Amino acid sequence: QVLILDFGSQYTQLIARRVRELNIYSEIKPYNKLPEDLSAFQAVILSGSPFSVRAEDAPHPDLSQIKGKKPLLGICYGAQYLAHFHGGNVAPSATREYGRAHLAGIKSDDGFLSGIPEGSQVWMSHSDTIKELPKGAVRLASTEDVENAAFKLKGETTYGIQFHPEVYHTTEGKKLLENFLVKIAGLKQDWTPDAFVETSVAELKQKIGSDKVILGLSGGVDSSVAAMLLHRAIGSQLHCIFVNNGLLRKNEFHDVLEQYKGMGLNVKGVDASARFLDALKGEADPEKKRKIIGRVFIEVFDDEAHQVENAKWLAQGTIYPDRIESVSASGGPSATIKSHHNVGGLPDFMKLKVVEPLHLLFKDEVRRVGRSIGMPEAILGRHPFPGPGLGIRILGDITAEKVSILQEVDAIFIEGLKKWGLYDKVWQAGAMLLPVQSVGVMGDERTYEKCVALRAVESTDGMTADWVNLPYEFLQKTSNEIINRVKGVNRVVYDISSKPPATIEWE
Ligand code: XMP
Repeated sequence: QVLILDFGSQYTQLIARRVRELNIYSEIKPYNKLPEDLSAFQAVILSGSPFSVRAEDAPHPDLSQIKGKKPLLGICYGAQYLAHFHGGNVAPSATREYGRAHLAGIKSDDGFLSGIPEGSQVWMSHSDTIKELPKGAVRLASTEDVENAAFKLKGETTYGIQFHPEVYHTTEGKKLLENFLVKIAGLKQDWTPDAFVETSVAELKQKIGSDKVILGLSGGVDSSVAAMLLHRAIGSQLHCIFVNNGLLRKNEFHDVLEQYKGMGLNVKGVDASARFLDALKGEADPEKKRKIIGRVFIEVFDDEAHQVENAKWLAQGTIYPDRIESVSASGGPSATIKSHHNVGGLPDFMKLKVVEPLHLLFKDEVRRVGRSIGMPEAILGRHPFPGPGLGIRILGDITAEKVSILQEVDAIFIEGLKKWGLYDKVWQAGAMLLPVQSVGVMGDERTYEKCVALRAVESTDGMTADWVNLPYEFLQKTSNEIINRVKGVNRVVYDISSKPPATIEWE
């Protein structure tokens, strides 16, 4: 496997993903937490960084166990770091260099740059530059503005590149990573979804033995794939619980439960709608609504978990980005059950041992594994849906009537997207029920009814998003259908705000 030392670059996760796209397993570690035992790593990549190597407080880890001993590739800051500490000279460049550049004077005899043509486009993003290479270094390529765009240290498999091979704008970036990892480091490209399924099933079997495991299914991709893997490993020892909080999409509880049963899962559907709606009665504050939904979920789940006698494990669908320790320490997303927990003693199910079958995977890899294990496309391709469900799309207080209105509106919108072939082009879509009424006219009657907002966004991770330019004709038909068919709604608007500054959900 490959070790990626993170110096805080915004692209570090992208390096890991590119490496994995080559079917080679990679792990990210912060530069200041270098693993003591490096024997499992056959190659090391140093990431970029917002720092200058010349700054006192810049990351300066001790690489004596790596450099000259294992194949090593420094990217951007990583390359400058190698130059700076081995007798080269790194200085501010006259102009900050961002964007496209083209390689020239390529030397490819040792294989590192083989197959990469003269003029190949690369992507730069740096303000320091390597003015002089370390002693014993050989220049492998330059660009218009950067003389030392790629170099190698003689007698070692140590390389530095000033550009970013991990971004798509570096057209031969993947080829370069493949050259380094396969030709130079001799890694095998055998980390495939099938291989992942095979090894994790074997590991889960071994770890869990004949114990019982509890897992909360949400209808989303992660918990579903986690369940499938465990099911393959331990069959009916896995007890899945799927809770209806009364805030799911129209028919979702029934349909998803049937799908799960069709996949052979041992799943219990628990309809706790009334309990949730009751607890939410009269509450209009968004954060309080979220907390109530989280608390009741834990109570219901705890009750159900007690029905499974002698359970030893709690399975969670945590994925790799939830666990990466980030150098910038912004505290990444954590969608695990625990984060909902309030003070007042742990519910019993939280005292179980935790098993997280997807903790090594990125989101797109979860999908690939799901596909390899035979998960229906209907689940794999589903848009993200928030845990509190329609509860945070009904602005203000929640009633059964409002839920039912929004379910109808949402169903028309989502079905429409599917019919028009737009569903897969959108990252997430849904409808919001607004706490306003407005005047309309239907037939000869004046109406005074509710307004709904439709929202469709494109995004990669939900952190930033932009609204989708849906065809006017689609919006027109959808709006007509909603107003004609859903009693209580006389106005439809389309949300054209990006995130930031807006958020995807309205609460
Ligand atoms: P926002 O509204 O913050 O949403 O732009 C970003 C993504 O997160 C989802 N989301 C949630 N998911 N519990 C969840 O499980 C929540 O409380 C929650 N709030 C927002 C949202 O649907 C979008 O995909």
